[in-house]
Amino acid sequence: MGLHLRNRIIWTFNHGLHCSVRFSGRYETLLWFTKTSQYTFNLDSVRIPSKYPGKTHFRPGPKYGLPSGNPLGKNPGDVWELMAHEWEVGLWSIPNVKANHPEKTIHPCQFPIELVERCVLALTNEDDWVLDPFSGVGSAMLAAVRHNRRAMGCEREPAYVAEAKHRMELLFSGQLPYRPLGKPVYQPTGREKVSQIPQRYYQGEQ
Ligand SMILES: C[S@@+](CC[C@H](N)C(=O)[O-])C[C@H]1O[C@@H](n2cnc3c(N)ncnc32)[C@H](O)[C@@H]1O
Repeated sequence: MGLHLRNRIIWTFNHGLHCSVRFSGRYETLLWFTKTSQYTFNLDSVRIPSKYPGKTHFRPGPKYGLPSGNPLGKNPGDVWELMAHEWEVGLWSIPNVKANHPEKTIHPCQFPIELVERCVLALTNEDDWVLDPFSGVGSAMLAAVRHNRRAMGCEREPAYVAEAKHRMELLFSGQLPYRPLGKPVYQPTGREKVSQIPQRYYQGEQ
């Protein structure tokens, strides 16, 4: 179709259905195509903290002693995952929308707004249009509108359309339950009751 594949992005998460006859699915693939070689890519809008922000250039060389990385952070790469504790702010990941996620609605396979936000910020400019042809409860449109883009969606289920409209109203009134982009993911300390093997398991009980 004459489109150019720029990136194949893996969005990986640690939650979801546990399969019993195959490995549990823990990623989704995003394909980013452009129509031409003229396209928008706002890297600075989506940089993430560098691993070693204080690293400098080695000698010899004209840049010896100067910072070797971008002070705004690094390119997030094409695997959007839960990363190890690599900078003091903690973890950068986009958790799967699940039952206890603040954004969860009636839709069974809704996407987190945060996932779309990174695409919207990097691949569009303010006032651009974002179209989601399978818009569900409107996560992509919400991400677009939050960042001053214009949005349109198509959805065949009236209940999802109604929910999308309701969420848009909540967004405009500042009441949309929303997980901010880049918010650190909660890490269990190991002391929580659910992090420990129940005593009764050792006694052979279920
Ligand atoms: C994976 S869901 C998208 C969820 C969405 N990203 C969100 O976060 O709410 C796909 C949606 O496409 C809708 N859909 C499927 N076929 C469609 C069609 N031919 N026209 C319009 N919507 C359709 C489904 O009803 C479903 O809500």
